[in-house]
Parts: sequence; C-alpha cells; structure tokens
Amino acid sequence: MKKQRLPKKQTPPTLLGERVQLAPWQKRYMEQSLHIMKDKALFDFTNMPYPYKRKHGLDFLKRMRKGTREGTDAVFAIVLPKNKKNKTLIGVCGVNKIDKKNKCAEMGYWIKKEERGKGYATEATNLIVDYMFKIRRLHRLEIRCSTLNPASKKVIKKLGGVYEGTLRKEKHSPIRKAYHDIEVYSILQEEWRKR
Ligand SMILES: CC(C)(COP(=O)(O)OP(=O)(O)OC[C@H]1O[C@@H](n2cnc3c(N)ncnc32)[C@H](O)[C@@H]1OP(=O)(O)O)[C@@H](O)C(=O)NCCC(=O)NCCS
Repeated sequence: MKKQRLPKKQTPPTLLGERVQLAPWQKRYMEQSLHIMKDKALFDFTNMPYPYKRKHGLDFLKRMRKGTREGTDAVFAIVLPKNKKNKTLIGVCGVNKIDKKNKCAEMGYWIKKEERGKGYATEATNLIVDYMFKIRRLHRLEIRCSTLNPASKKVIKKLGGVYEGTLRKEKHSPIRKAYHDIEVYSILQEEWRKR
C-alpha cells in the first residue's frame, strides 16, 4: 500500500492496490450496488436486509456518513479503475463498530458474483487491514464468517486470521430460512506486524 495519511475529520483516503482501488463509499455507487444486490449469496452470508430496496441503500449511505464522521465506520467501494473518471464497482469492503477506546473493529466484505475467484476480495481486505493497523492504529480486527462459506474462510486464512471459536446458530439466513453457525477470527496488531 502506498504511504497514506489520515486526513481531517477521519475521512478515509482512497486506498490504491495493484488492481483494485478502495474509494470511500459515496452516493455515486448506489445505483450500481442496487443492481448487484440481486445476488442471494449476499443475503445468505451478510447482514444486509433482504430484499434490498432503494430505501436500504439510502439508509446505508446515511449510516456510513454518520459513522465516518464519528469515526465508528470506514466503508469503501471496491472499484476497478478503467480510467481516472470511470470506475466500475465490484464490491464493498469495510470496517464498522470501531471502538476507539479498545482499538477494536469488525470487518465485512462482498464481491459482485461475476468478479469472484479473481483474488479481488483478498487484495481489497489486505488494503483495509494495512490501513486499519497502520493509519488508524487498530489493536484488534475481528472477522466473522459462516461455516457454510468456504470462500470467505479462505480469504480470512490468507489474511492471517486466527480462529477463536464458533457462535452456534448466530445468524439467520433469509435465503436458507435457517440459522448459520458463525466462526469468529481475529488479527492482532502484533501479528500484522510480523506478516
Ligand atoms: C467471500 C467473497 C467475498 C470472496 O470473494 P473473491 O473475490 O472471490 O475472493 P478471492 O478470489 O480473493 O479468494 C477466494 C478464495 O476462496 C476459494 N474458494 C472459492 N469458492 C470456494 C469453495 N466453494 N470452496 C473452497 N474454496 C473456495 C478460491 O479458490 C480462492 O482461494 P485461492 O486464492 O487460494 O484460489 C465472495 O465469495 C462473496 O462476495 N461472497 C458473498 C458475500 C460474502 O460471503 N461475504 C463475506 C461475509 S463473511
């Protein structure tokens, strides 16, 4: 990751990877994301409301703005830069529940169906992990993942996430109409330094 400083008011910078860029979430990405939200895997494995309507997109935007202002969220659009002006949204990756006192937070992510299996989630999550530990001085980053989600588990393993335990039937899937067991992983600042 290129050297980046935290600008005023905790506004996250755009994070530049080899292939993807992570741009702070903005209204301009909403239309594209509403289109992508027709994929059921997103509702199976994340906490997004189902079915996802425009109202949810607007609520998300409002929450992200408030959370960014208050320093409790850092959410990014994962984009493929075609050129300086034209950027295609391929997913979302971000950190929420930033607890400033304990320097802890939780990370979530999703990638558009057609763009999966190309290493984009791995690249994007690596950028966020570097940003959160290096710039935001986080101490612990938590990542949760359903036992039925091998792709996400692989991403977490590649990040160096350490398994802590399983929350039994913790998340309800509106798609499967059943509860998922959720595995909890974390990365600590000292582990990140050793990578
Ligand atoms: C999880 C998710 C973000 C992964 O995105 P991605 O861009 O495809 O991830 P990557 O390509 O970086 O890595 C995925 C890895 O999982 C592996 N994988 C994919 N499907 C798999 C499966 N069914 N079983 C085992 N491994 C699998 C891939 O081979 C790859 O590993 P590799 O690099 O060693 O080959 C994407 O599948 C997604 O958006 N799913 C729906 C939402 C979601 O689950 N979000 C995470 C909530 S915890």
